[in-house]
Amino acid sequence: MCGIVGYVGHKPVVDILLDGLAQLEYRGYDSSGIAVKCSDSIKVYKAEGKLANLRDELSFHAYELSKSTMGIGHIRWATHGAPTVINAHPHTCNCGNLVIVHNGIIENYKELKAELEAKGCIFKSQTDTESVAHLVASIYAEVKDLTKAVHLATQKIQGAYALCIMHNDEPNKIVATKRNAPLVIGLGENEFYIASDVPAFIKHTKRAIYLEDNQVATLTPDKLIIEDENSAKIEPKVELLPWESVALSKMGYKHFMLKEIHEQPDIIRNILVGKLKTSDSEIELNEVNLTKETLKNLNRIQVIACGTSLHAAMIGKYIIENFCSIPVDVEASSEYIYRKTVTDKHTLVIGVSQSGETADTLTAIKQSKARGSHILIITNRPDSAMAREADSLLSVNAGIEVSVAATKSYIAQLTSFYLLALYMAEIKGTMKSDDLRNIKSEMLLLPQKIEQILSHKEEIQKCARKYSGTRDFIYIARGINYPTALEGALKLKEISYINATGYPAGELKHGPIAMLDETMPVLSILMKGSVYEKLLSNSEEAKARNARMIALTNSTDPKLDDLFDFIIRVPEVMELLSPLIAMIPLQLIAYYIAEFLGKDVDQPRNLAKSVTVE
Ligand code: G6P
Repeated sequence: MCGIVGYVGHKPVVDILLDGLAQLEYRGYDSSGIAVKCSDSIKVYKAEGKLANLRDELSFHAYELSKSTMGIGHIRWATHGAPTVINAHPHTCNCGNLVIVHNGIIENYKELKAELEAKGCIFKSQTDTESVAHLVASIYAEVKDLTKAVHLATQKIQGAYALCIMHNDEPNKIVATKRNAPLVIGLGENEFYIASDVPAFIKHTKRAIYLEDNQVATLTPDKLIIEDENSAKIEPKVELLPWESVALSKMGYKHFMLKEIHEQPDIIRNILVGKLKTSDSEIELNEVNLTKETLKNLNRIQVIACGTSLHAAMIGKYIIENFCSIPVDVEASSEYIYRKTVTDKHTLVIGVSQSGETADTLTAIKQSKARGSHILIITNRPDSAMAREADSLLSVNAGIEVSVAATKSYIAQLTSFYLLALYMAEIKGTMKSDDLRNIKSEMLLLPQKIEQILSHKEEIQKCARKYSGTRDFIYIARGINYPTALEGALKLKEISYINATGYPAGELKHGPIAMLDETMPVLSILMKGSVYEKLLSNSEEAKARNARMIALTNSTDPKLDDLFDFIIRVPEVMELLSPLIAMIPLQLIAYYIAEFLGKDVDQPRNLAKSVTVE
């Protein structure tokens, strides 16, 4: 995480950097800073907290900076060192001649620091990044060439990084490099942009070069030179970005999260268009680049993801196993990459990621690819690093998700999993035609049902208000909705900071039940189907311990009125599709509780939307 941005050209740089950083705020918002070349030297400005604080700080220097046309900027998600001004980027060497912004983690920073301190460098911050500032500066003192100094420094750095560096002695230059962190260069007319992600400069240019690991780029207003790790010049591939610059607006909603929740019916409609036409037509999924023969013989799938995407993957496992009778393993990418895994060329590996950049998932994908597995990526970013690794790419097309808490991208990932599972089931012949027809016709009705929930959200708001004073919250479910309970709890934790946990209801009695008393809300995701009665019994067990019982249900069973203190009703839906319906009220409960508590809903503390460190 962290976002970096840079510009060399002829336009006033400060607004370019600030606008670019605003587009990268999804990567962190602990602090921000810029370094700009002024007539006499490079000047650094930093502020703690949101970007607005840096804007305020810079407003005092508007005149003196108005002529600057070159600079670098940074928005931070703190890894090493508290989110203070001292730890904010850009960092400098001791004499202040060299400035640097960094995204990633320098794993050997302690060793570098010890070595550099022994040479007389004085460290001011607690960051890993500062070691690179001193390292490059000390090499520069000998070689007097910034590009060369960066090449040499990267030979000593371990870890993941994207770096942009400027030096007072080479005043018209930004030198940049990366390893396992994203960096993309935008090409304008006698100007270059560089950033962690395309939105930072898309309103200026659509022509771009994705820098590859270990390449070093030297940007001056009239020239861009890219070298490989051996300092040999390379001819980079210029891509035309498939992006429009969109003015992101809340469209009258109080928060992006609420707006994004309301977009979900249309997102499902858009995903289904052309792929699921009628309940009688076959699923069309040309994106799956595997022959029918290979799909028929497929005997194992591994799904890798993090966070909310991991919960979508868990439901994906449930439906693929149910529809296609193929065993599916799901694992958090961060666990997958540090053990001996047995994926090989007979395994289909599915990576799920909203951003397509999550470092752990990207590493896991690369590992599986190297072992010969076919890589299918489900992502909201068809231009991302993960998409570039894909053999098959399912783009979920949910549009830019601004709120850090994922909502619409989750529903879009789930919808894509259903299409994929149905597509494979049709090829493998593992579902009865009646079952296929039923599920397809119900899928086509999902958007309307979600709209029904959204148009009656006052009840959910009432529920949120009633339980907003709680310190803890338990979500229980069984079967296909167990991941829904996890995701419901995650949403609440993320934006309200209430300690919420999801449990498989049958496990409650094996420990968690000890926590229940008259202060604990227990929300039971009670959808009609195979585990309804069992979950009802588990809810009774919780009620017997005086818990404050809430039901989220599509049942009209009158006996629920005695058991539950609050009932949220959702439309009829078949059990296999119920995660798509059940999640909507849970998103709204989390939203309204956080909003009622006055939390920063779209940018909750400590989080970032895209996590590019392991
Ligand atoms: C971060 C975000 C989560 C997200 C997770 C995985 O932690 O805050 O909302 O689910 O990363 O991100 P991905 O982009 O891979 O889905």
